Amino acid sequence: MDIIIRDDYEQMSKYAAEIIAGHIKAKPDCVLGLATGSTPINTYKELIKIHKQGLDFSRVRTFNLDEYLGVGPEPGKPYDLDQSYSRFMHEELLNHINIKKENIHIPDGRTKDPKKFCMWYEEEIKKSGGIDLQLLGIGGDGHWGFNEPGSSLGSRTAVVALTQQTLDDNYNAFYKNANIERSDMPHFAITMGIGTILDAKNILMIANGKKKADIIAKCLEGPITSQITSSAIQLHSGGITVVLDEDAASKLTNANRYRHIEKTKLQYGL
Ligand code: PGA
Repeated sequence: MDIIIRDDYEQMSKYAAEIIAGHIKAKPDCVLGLATGSTPINTYKELIKIHKQGLDFSRVRTFNLDEYLGVGPEPGKPYDLDQSYSRFMHEELLNHINIKKENIHIPDGRTKDPKKFCMWYEEEIKKSGGIDLQLLGIGGDGHWGFNEPGSSLGSRTAVVALTQQTLDDNYNAFYKNANIERSDMPHFAITMGIGTILDAKNILMIANGKKKADIIAKCLEGPITSQITSSAIQLHSGGITVVLDEDAASKLTNANRYRHIEKTKLQYGL
């Protein structure tokens, strides 16, 4: 596992975007797993910049981690009432790159048959050849996607209930500004499972800010537990890169060791 510590959010985002761009350059039809939240916003901005300098997304395929249940683009409804992750992804990244519509996969929050949809989503990921690189944030409660504390570490794409902490975090980050009442927020979501995420060939987790310092230390250096579902990162068998800013890394016991490893690898061209 490579743990990379950068000075600030801007540097963290640049580093993460370069990793994603590197995967696309190496495999132009690669399958990316994408994430929402406030953390990846600048990573996406950096990717758009790299796209403007020539990075081609025309063969890239994407699968998003999660979506609220009961929301999504709805014909005839004002666009600004749509608090879906689909809208977020289009505004923050997809509308600004040359990706093909048919190559974008985001869980359908308005599906009439969520169970069937989840099975279909898993099949589509398999049919694509599997996710080459999964981008992940980390929730305040340690979740990946909406795999809240107590979710099985082998879980697959499913409908889940959101915890109070996630509802509070998302209310403050997204709903408050849109003047939407807490009670009107969706309480369920479709999410890739931890097992689904662990099937990705490579994982790229990003985190910034002091508020993530405790949970990052628990996730990376604490015991593997379903109470912090992202701690399953310690079980992943492929390539893992964690990119943190100094604040998010500030509670890591072994931060100096991670810095040393990065320096040594650079020195030896590894
Ligand atoms: P955040 O959310 O990026 O808004 O902090 C991360 C997550 O919940 O995965």
